[in-house]
Amino acid sequence: MKNFETVKAIQKFITSEKSKGKSIGFVPTMGALHVGHLSLIEQARTKTDVVVCSIFVNPTQFDNQEDLTKYPRTIETDRQLLIDYQTDVLFLPTVQEIYPNGMEPTEEYDFGYLDQPMEGAFRKGHFAGMAQVVKRLLDIVQPDYLFMGQKDYQQQLIVGRLLELTGMDTALVTCPIVREEDGLAMSSRNVRLSAEERKKAATISATLRQAKADRGNYTLAQTQERAIECLNAVDGIRVVYFEIVDAKTLESLDNWEDAEQLIACTAVHLGSVRLIDNLFL
Ligand code: PAJ
Repeated sequence: MKNFETVKAIQKFITSEKSKGKSIGFVPTMGALHVGHLSLIEQARTKTDVVVCSIFVNPTQFDNQEDLTKYPRTIETDRQLLIDYQTDVLFLPTVQEIYPNGMEPTEEYDFGYLDQPMEGAFRKGHFAGMAQVVKRLLDIVQPDYLFMGQKDYQQQLIVGRLLELTGMDTALVTCPIVREEDGLAMSSRNVRLSAEERKKAATISATLRQAKADRGNYTLAQTQERAIECLNAVDGIRVVYFEIVDAKTLESLDNWEDAEQLIACTAVHLGSVRLIDNLFL
């Protein structure tokens, strides 16, 4: 695996690979890699010639300083995992390399309603910072395919819109959520859960599955209420939101029939850790 830390070095390599007619697959991450991330690497490997993974804990997308400082950093383990999964390139830039002119955003994108609800409403500036870094990384790597997880459903919708808005020649591939045996969606933040919290965390995906089963037996509003009650009933869990929305537009719905595809999205605090998950209904 090649390791690059500077924009100049990785660009030189990518240009050379592209000139040989090779396709580039890109998996951006913030590290603390787990099987969820690695499933994206595997997908990229089956679809493209050169698999590039970036690890960059992007300061501009954290609305909470504590979350940024406490974000797990396990670079040596990450590097070995990427080698094991036959990744071709690890891009590990510094903040200075990504933001040579400071971290103030230079461009603003209009994502319509996509960045307004849910994560957008509760994490101010998060999606602007996320889009800023993804655009910068795409400009550097110039991939043919970009691999992202359904785990961050709203994020991948916004990135899809970003690709449209900028007219970039990159296709987005959204990969399914990888879960632990008890259903908990894999996340870098899971390591911060205590053993007791970790057990309780299974309620999140169980509640999503319950909401899916409720369809047909309850109204949409009732289903949402039941889910919120079920989560809040667990000592230590506080629901931030649990919403059933149009999977395309993220708009709230009154009835099950109001959209072609519906998705339930939730965020909860479990102790000091914030977790998100979703499920198509
Ligand atoms: P990070 O949280 O490290 O996630 C990197 C990618 O892995 C994202 O596309 C995310 O959706 C995917 N992923 C995480 N957990 C997953 C799981 N359990 N199953 C499948 N895919 C999963 O998302 C980010 O980083 C950042 O916002 C980033 C896009 C890198 C920009 O900084």
